[in-house]
Amino acid sequence: MVKHRNRGMSSSTRRFWNVPVRRGQAALLIAMLAAGSLGIRAATPAETERKIDALLARMTLEEKLGQMSQGVFDGLADKTKQEIRQGRWGSLYGGGTPAQRAEAQRLAKESRLGIPLIFGEDVIHGYTTIFPIPLGQTASWDPELVRQAARVAAREAAGVGIQWTFSPMMDIARDPRWGRIAEGFGEDPYVASQMAAAMVRGYQGDSLDAADSIAACAKHYVGYGAAEGGRDYNTTWIPEDLLRDVYLAPFQAARDAGVATYMSAFNDLNGVPASANEFTLRQVLRDEWKFDGFVVSDYNSIAELVPHGYAADARNAAQKGIAAGVNMEMVSTTYWDHGKALVDGKQLDPKVVDQAVREILRIKFRLGLFDAKAQFTPSTATASTADALGTAKRLAGESLVLLKNQNRTLPLAKSIGKVAVIGPLADNPLDQIGTWASTEPNTVRTPLLALRQALGENRVLFAPALKNSRDTSHDGFVAAVTAARGADAVLLFLGEEASMSGEAGSRAYLDLPGAQEALVNEVSQAGKPVIAVVMAGRPLTFHNVAEKVSAILYAWHPGTMGGPAIADAILGDTVPSGKLPVTFPRTVGQVPIYYNHMSTGRPAAESGPEAENRFTSKYLDASYTPEYPFGYGLSYTQFEYTNLRVSALGMALGGSLTVSADVANTGKVEADEIVQLYTRQMTGSLARPVRELKGFRRIHLKPGEKQSVEFTLKSGDLAFHKGVHLVTEPGRFQVWIAPDSAAGAPAQFVVTP
Ligand code: BGC
Repeated sequence: MVKHRNRGMSSSTRRFWNVPVRRGQAALLIAMLAAGSLGIRAATPAETERKIDALLARMTLEEKLGQMSQGVFDGLADKTKQEIRQGRWGSLYGGGTPAQRAEAQRLAKESRLGIPLIFGEDVIHGYTTIFPIPLGQTASWDPELVRQAARVAAREAAGVGIQWTFSPMMDIARDPRWGRIAEGFGEDPYVASQMAAAMVRGYQGDSLDAADSIAACAKHYVGYGAAEGGRDYNTTWIPEDLLRDVYLAPFQAARDAGVATYMSAFNDLNGVPASANEFTLRQVLRDEWKFDGFVVSDYNSIAELVPHGYAADARNAAQKGIAAGVNMEMVSTTYWDHGKALVDGKQLDPKVVDQAVREILRIKFRLGLFDAKAQFTPSTATASTADALGTAKRLAGESLVLLKNQNRTLPLAKSIGKVAVIGPLADNPLDQIGTWASTEPNTVRTPLLALRQALGENRVLFAPALKNSRDTSHDGFVAAVTAARGADAVLLFLGEEASMSGEAGSRAYLDLPGAQEALVNEVSQAGKPVIAVVMAGRPLTFHNVAEKVSAILYAWHPGTMGGPAIADAILGDTVPSGKLPVTFPRTVGQVPIYYNHMSTGRPAAESGPEAENRFTSKYLDASYTPEYPFGYGLSYTQFEYTNLRVSALGMALGGSLTVSADVANTGKVEADEIVQLYTRQMTGSLARPVRELKGFRRIHLKPGEKQSVEFTLKSGDLAFHKGVHLVTEPGRFQVWIAPDSAAGAPAQFVVTP
């Protein structure tokens, strides 16, 4: 049984998700302030544990199994009302109106023990106000702004009775075929860790029990992004060292940021499904990281232990899921159906059940759900605040990556006569917001709208050319070419529609779908400068298109304020500063391709004598280098990196040194630059990646301004895993301060014992 829905799928399912009644945070805040709940002294951990003890002592096994169950909220059918009164559900998610959620909480309060529900929801990149997809947010390299966006999302969601989001998703992905790459923070564990921590802090605020805080959920624990072949839900094989260095890193950062919950993933990991994996769920999460919140399974993933071939039947699946430490089962009902028989049959220790329930109740207490928070009365809808829209616009702006800008085509002069706005994503609100998002289409500001506002209707010649990104018909081409001929510049809005990425959105080809490439060919014959703005949920391959156009702005799926953010960049009111959070391949055949790869014994070379050597690690029919490397992004100005230096030739184990470089703005406009610090361990007891990101900084420079950018590097920053052990080895290292992962020449230092 797989009942699936995807918030990015179609406008009709979107509407199902997008329950029209929403948004009542003002009422919540007022109600809670009036109740004085914010002034009440928070319970000490010991007091909370005593309250949990008292509850556990009174709970029946059924009530405990109820707490361990999460269902889809159907908006309070009679059966659901009855069940809530009986303590059948610990959590509900994914439906209903704010009023129905409030009513459900009232019913829960009236149940025998009055244990509140925890309402979950996939608030992935905004709730009312939609921010860029997480991959796009990562391109901003601005964790503080990402935190602020999550804060907005928390406020908007808390205001309608949602207390828990299934976000952030922090699956490292080295494979753009995998549609869920859109939902995560890209390929690098360092950037992903920064973003994961920032989002957790944003959702959870200073204190979980604040009226506008919601619990975060670190997902999908773990390895999901390594799905073989980029096919969703597929098998993963990840050696422990790599698992710890790369895939677990952001989850550990989320733990350090105090994340309240984790979600166990769909994939099998080295033969053991992640939703029954005692190694990751018990040893790593509980024993090593001392996590004391709770784990929810992914949708139906406990029942799916059977088709995995890991559990014999539903009863065995429940036994394995609970034993492994998955506290709460999402959607499938094996815990509820078989928990009692397992306990009666002595196949499940009641103490394990108690522990699982304790961890769920602990988060409910921390959230303040036993106090006023669960009982607020939501008010009717409120729109995004000006602040929220401002944050969304800034983040969409900072996430724009300028990939090409031949002859300074961009920015366009505001005095330009007319522009042709062409393409399937120029005016498509729902595709612009991307996967896992729903909203009223009329709240989204599209590029067409923003450009018309900026330039006036008469100066914008609009021709969509294609109905959507997959449209193969050339019927609209004539109008598009006519518009291009009549304009002074052509803005082509290309890419992928929302439903082509996200869950179950894997692709075997990464090209622009439909007739988009043909459209570029036609339109470029008008002889006008063509600027391509690409909106997509993943890196696409568009080499031929890139050759035909003068400028490329990669916008991801930029959310509610994508249009104004793009228009500002095109017209020079802002300067693109985003950098790629993931490597862009030249062709899908290069995948997996990522910057922090190993050297191999036969590294290929682009120049010098080795370039001619057939017997190096490369392809006969394509380059081995990416189209655009990780960390890459241009600006309307130029930055020059000079004078890379280290404060000492070496450092002892346990010591530190500083690495600095001068970065100068040698162009004509002030702009932000994202300065990146990379290292490489030259030899060791294990071969190490050719580069690893160790730090980054967003700096702002005026024309002609130069800044010395300094990073402190501790020997511990160079550590890597050998099994459970984190080791730093003495030896030679290279270090770069560079504008991207492929640029710059390194300095050297040594680490001494
Ligand atoms: C997805 C999760 C999501 C859950 C609840 C699953 O199919 O993998 O990311 O949170 O559904 O909607």
